[in-house]
Amino acid sequence: MTDRKLLSMAAEAMANSYSPYSRFKVGAAIECTDGKVFSGCNIENSAFASTMCAEAAAIAVAVSAGERNFKRIAIISEGNTYCFPCGSCRQLLIEFAPDLEVLSARADGRYVSYSLSSLLPMAFGKEHMSNL
Ligand code: THU
Repeated sequence: MTDRKLLSMAAEAMANSYSPYSRFKVGAAIECTDGKVFSGCNIENSAFASTMCAEAAAIAVAVSAGERNFKRIAIISEGNTYCFPCGSCRQLLIEFAPDLEVLSARADGRYVSYSLSSLLPMAFGKEHMSNL
């Protein structure tokens, strides 16, 4: 799948964003190694701390469908700057995909690509839990 196609799937999910508080719509589409794609949007809540990011929504749907191997995620917002995953989402993603490629797009369609490991260096992971 092309980067553009994955980004357009993220944009489709962004249209469903429930973001009445921030009015900042975000969409994400995560591509599995088997080629399947799962997407999500941010889902805000009047109890602000219960808000879910688009990336968290996408990975929750994917893992719930039995997927655990991912190769790429596309993230897009309506903003004029590149939308990168927040710290918490970086941690959520690295649990499953330390080698994930992260495509981050602006509203005008321009995008950049980074490795997740460069966005979250020296991450905590299961290998650090010596009792396992
Ligand atoms: N948000 C995401 O969905 N993903 C990110 O990577 C950054 C932030 C959402 C959460 C909230 O609904 C809104 O953007 C403003 O923070």
